Amino acid sequence: MEVIILPSSKEIGALAADAIEELVRTKPAAVLGLATGSSPLPIYDELARRHDQDGLSFTQAHGFALDEYVGLPVGHPESYREVIRREFTNRVDVAPDNVHGPDGSAADIQAACLGYEEAIKAAGGVDLQILGVGTNGHIGFNEPGSSLASRTRIKTLADQTRQDNARFFDTIDQVPHHVVTQGLGTIMAARHVVLVAFGAGKAAAVRDFVEGPVTASCPASVLQFHPHATILVDEAAAAQL
Ligand code: GLP
Repeated sequence: MEVIILPSSKEIGALAADAIEELVRTKPAAVLGLATGSSPLPIYDELARRHDQDGLSFTQAHGFALDEYVGLPVGHPESYREVIRREFTNRVDVAPDNVHGPDGSAADIQAACLGYEEAIKAAGGVDLQILGVGTNGHIGFNEPGSSLASRTRIKTLADQTRQDNARFFDTIDQVPHHVVTQGLGTIMAARHVVLVAFGAGKAAAVRDFVEGPVTASCPASVLQFHPHATILVDEAAAAQL
């Protein structure tokens, strides 16, 4: 695990965008793992800027979202499918058909999860997975207690995560209790993982997953076993290292 401390989220976004740009310039049909939340926004902003100003193209690239809420109506502005469209894919030239997400409204969720794993495999696997981290150490929606070998499946959100994500909804009651998320095993299969975190609120989680034991109690700690994990943090998020 390589940990890089940068002055601000802007530099974090730029360095992560460098890795993604190098990937799609050398492998135009690259498979990107896409995350939601506020942490990846500086990356998406920078990629959109490079698309507009430098001609960085994603026409052949594929995107696979990490996770999705269960129970939000299709097209709900806070469904991750919509968030990823709004924050990233609609701002660049990714073909809409090349953007995939777990189906949180499938009648048979288990079959849909298996199908999602198959789709990732059929695309050749994820080349670069973007990740944020929850204040309780979750990645994707793999809450504490998740199996380190887990694959895409339905999960129940921790109260902490519902509280953290309530800011995206009018009231906490509107935050779904269930989600579909790529598992920790799914995430670990990506060839390169780039996790970004900034702000003091992430300092304890960053300390725990970077320097603590590898444990299901802190799901992001599994990345200590990843052969190519890059952790980009600002000084506030690195304060407890
Ligand atoms: C959500 C997402 C995660 C994200 C986390 C942190 O729960 N499922 O993928 O990393 O929130 O969000 P933020 O970056 O807004 O702090």
